Amino acid sequence: MAADSKTSLSNGNVSTQPNPKRSYQVVVAATRDMGIGKDGKLPWKLPSDLKFFKEITQITSDAGKRNAVIMGRKTWESIPLEHRPLPGRLNVVLTRSGSFDIATVENVVICGSIGSALELLAASPYCLSIEKVFVIGGGQILSEALNAPECDAIHITEIETRIECDTFIPSIDSSVFQPWYSSFPIVENNIRYCLSTYVRVRSAAVESLSQNNDIVLDSKTNSDKFEVKQFSFLPKMVFEKHEEYLYLRLVQDIISDGNLKDDRTGTDAVQFAHNFSASYNQGIKYFGEVLSRNFSGSSVVQQMPSVGLTDREEGDLGPVYGFQWRHFGARYTNMHADYSGQGFDQLLDVINKIKNNPNDRRIVLSAWNPSDLKLMALPPCHMFAQFYVANGELSCQMYQRSADMGLGVPFNIASYALLTCMIAHVCDLAPGDFIHVIGDAHVYRNHVRPLEEQLQKLPKPFPILKINPEKKDIDSFVAEDFKLIGYDPHQKIEMKMAAPLLEACIDADMV
Ligand SMILES: NC(=O)c1ccc[n+]([C@@H]2O[C@H](COP(=O)([O-])OP(=O)(O)OC[C@H]3O[C@@H](n4cnc5c(N)ncnc54)[C@H](OP(=O)(O)O)[C@@H]3O)[C@@H](O)[C@H]2O)c1
Repeated sequence: MAADSKTSLSNGNVSTQPNPKRSYQVVVAATRDMGIGKDGKLPWKLPSDLKFFKEITQITSDAGKRNAVIMGRKTWESIPLEHRPLPGRLNVVLTRSGSFDIATVENVVICGSIGSALELLAASPYCLSIEKVFVIGGGQILSEALNAPECDAIHITEIETRIECDTFIPSIDSSVFQPWYSSFPIVENNIRYCLSTYVRVRSAAVESLSQNNDIVLDSKTNSDKFEVKQFSFLPKMVFEKHEEYLYLRLVQDIISDGNLKDDRTGTDAVQFAHNFSASYNQGIKYFGEVLSRNFSGSSVVQQMPSVGLTDREEGDLGPVYGFQWRHFGARYTNMHADYSGQGFDQLLDVINKIKNNPNDRRIVLSAWNPSDLKLMALPPCHMFAQFYVANGELSCQMYQRSADMGLGVPFNIASYALLTCMIAHVCDLAPGDFIHVIGDAHVYRNHVRPLEEQLQKLPKPFPILKINPEKKDIDSFVAEDFKLIGYDPHQKIEMKMAAPLLEACIDADMV
């Protein structure tokens, strides 16, 4: 079947009424310099990538429908004879040449432009029978289609290994698309790659962003607000890979199946608990509000009579996180004392090891100092972090003995992701993975309802963190050195802190 001209689709109405067009998603594999092909073929063999391509373009949520794949004539010809047309999908081949005629082949239609293909798919019968439309290359088609307004999402196999190519596509416009998900790296046939998805968050490019991706912007620009409000147009297999689901599923799991336990805090003295480990990876993602503080090593809290530290000045937490990180082993007196040069500076030691001995298996930051515990208003919850360097990336695994899922954990994830990004930045590494291991993960009874409300909210793309490239000293950072770009959270959900002491700890002494 051939369907090319606008007139045949619109019954001659083209000039007076614009035809509705289908939007689409791009699926492509590209190297870092956006190379996609060589000598009319794919210059790599990546079985997992092919499997992903097949699944994402073939699977539909409605068994009565199928998807369409749009491709250039040369891409069609690059598919081995025995594999084309791609089965289970409507193959739409673009050509400007009248002599190219394969329209008699079942499941194939030919169109003379991208626009006419999208109009065809928006019209009957395809508007009813085709669920999703994917543009699959090659270079000529994607030079037009990749960042075009009808492109809702880009599923890109990001190939890290250098491979020679002769066909290229444009870069993804980061003022319009934000990352949704990126897989752990896969290595096949000595090629390292990730399966990543970027979604459109606004309809048109934001000039200042698209001109210079490295620019450090004021985080309060209008560009933070997404014009696209829902991302459920993504294929389910990608939508549900959003890393926020690691957190949301654990919350759901604890509420449904957790053990009921008594609680130290006294407020709503019942909780549901579980233990858990999860990895948040690729560029490190953020949950909740990200705060940054100097690593001064000071520790403050408002009141702590309940733990027997009545002689402590109001506002003094004792030798908690910051003190242990910068002055481990020093004798703690009060929050005003000058501890310069005292104790062991674990943070500088970590940075020194990452820079000079990155294969070290002892790159550890410990807030747990048993002999000081009795002096602390609250012993450290996130007590231990180990850093790991590989492939130019810095990863962090953090152990948390006790985790308040509603209020604490989103903050803990954001804090350690930020810490890892900061240390990676001063060590000239890229941020890798954040692995969060929790001993006792609990939901307080009075958080169940607000968390159930949160479980109804659909995730949005994470913001992008920019760190001032001039700053290379961990002690030199100020809040203005960090910009979050494209942070568009859902509305606030109120939850009460289980204990005022915890509140004070979070206010005062987290990174
Ligand atoms: N890495 C990946 O994911 C991936 C995906 C697909 C392809 N590839 C690779 O990319 C290479 C092929 O890409 P390519 O850029 O050379 O060719 P292509 O984009 O696949 O096809 C180009 C042809 O499509 C037609 N065409 C282009 N723009 C058109 C438009 N706007 N309207 C109508 N027809 C249009 C023209 O056909 P006529 O000349 O017949 O008019 C043109 O010659 C191969 O190496 C292939 O393996 C890689």
